[in-house]
Amino acid sequence: MDMADVVNLEELQPLARQRMDKLAYDYIASGAEDEVTLRENRAAFSRIRLRPRVLVDVSRQDLSTQVLGAKLALPVLLAPVAMHRLAHPDGELATARAAAALGTVIVLSTLSTCSLEEVAHAARGPRWFQLYCFKDRDLTRGLIERAQAAGYGALCVTVDAPRLGRREADIRNGFHLPPGLTLKNLEGIGGRGLPPDQMGSALALYAATMLDRSLSWKDIAWMRSITKLPLVLKGIHTAEDARLAVEHGVDGIVVSNHGGRQLDTVPAAVELLPEVVEAVGSRIEVLLDGGVRRGTDSSARELWLMRPDASEAARIAGDPSFTYGGYSWDPAGSAVVFQRFPLATPDARPDVLIWVMDQQSVEVIAQDAWLARWLP
Ligand SMILES: Cc1cc2nc3c(=O)[nH]c(=O)nc-3n(C[C@H](O)[C@H](O)[C@H](O)COP(=O)(O)O)c2cc1C
Repeated sequence: MDMADVVNLEELQPLARQRMDKLAYDYIASGAEDEVTLRENRAAFSRIRLRPRVLVDVSRQDLSTQVLGAKLALPVLLAPVAMHRLAHPDGELATARAAAALGTVIVLSTLSTCSLEEVAHAARGPRWFQLYCFKDRDLTRGLIERAQAAGYGALCVTVDAPRLGRREADIRNGFHLPPGLTLKNLEGIGGRGLPPDQMGSALALYAATMLDRSLSWKDIAWMRSITKLPLVLKGIHTAEDARLAVEHGVDGIVVSNHGGRQLDTVPAAVELLPEVVEAVGSRIEVLLDGGVRRGTDSSARELWLMRPDASEAARIAGDPSFTYGGYSWDPAGSAVVFQRFPLATPDARPDVLIWVMDQQSVEVIAQDAWLARWLP
């Protein structure tokens, strides 16, 4: 198969595998330990049956939505994914342009290979900064202040990684950053780089040395006290923690198991969604990620994040002019499209790779097809 034959996102993955360095591909594709949760995230969606209503006028459709007060063109955000330049030389800059073209948010990882300032200059679209909390609190505070100064609209604090999941492919490959790539946000501020080529995963060693395993709710209160940015906690699994998040004044939570890359054998994120939504009601934003690959995985009130390596893979698989065409939006408003051709080519007909259910609006999908199933 090559790019011309691709009709859905899953089909991009084997193409990426053919073209990518094994160390980079395995880092992106693999989960923790036996990858039970990685598989479950997809399997759970395939067990869900939609319950559509008919004879509603769908001649006009609007998938736009609001997240933390900002209007997005569609209910999909790009999840924080470290080190995009492992996949393409333009790295996070290209992803930020793609997100802006699509009218949605890029959530930039702390561990990005372009700096948060470079990404802010690359595209004017909405962006959030994902924060890993370092043992060095001055360093952590510095990152928060830089994100705020560079116009990031929210701080997405990852709370499910007190230690790095045991990703056995990375251990086997001796995962490290290839020469020329660095953790750009941390250069020159004591954040150090990943240790060079070594036995085992350099990322696991880095996380164990640098990130703060003692992170607890009091640190969320500390973050709340030092920034005015909205706080979103990523990696909530249970109703209990969702309630605590509300009590600690956060603005949103992401129900997520880190794409099965952290604690293996936890349930699929989508299976935990109902208890979380029931616990917090509409008091804060609830987002979900893990395993989202198709429009039929979509709903409205809970917004999906997905790993942007689909577009990375597309870029790698296609010719270089593809670079900024990863994501687009069908102006007719009938579907979310993943465009296989550069936006710069005026006569390129977008190929629809992902369809959102043929309904009037995301709200209609939410009320009739989705929440009806999950909410009592
Ligand atoms: C290669 C890779 C790197 C990631 N890096 C980060 C990161 O730096 N910070 C973070 O909070 N989550 C990170 N994640 C997790 C994603 O934000 C998201 O939770 C996960 O990809 C969702 O699963 P899915 O891609 O299978 O849909 C990473 C995921 C992947 C695949």
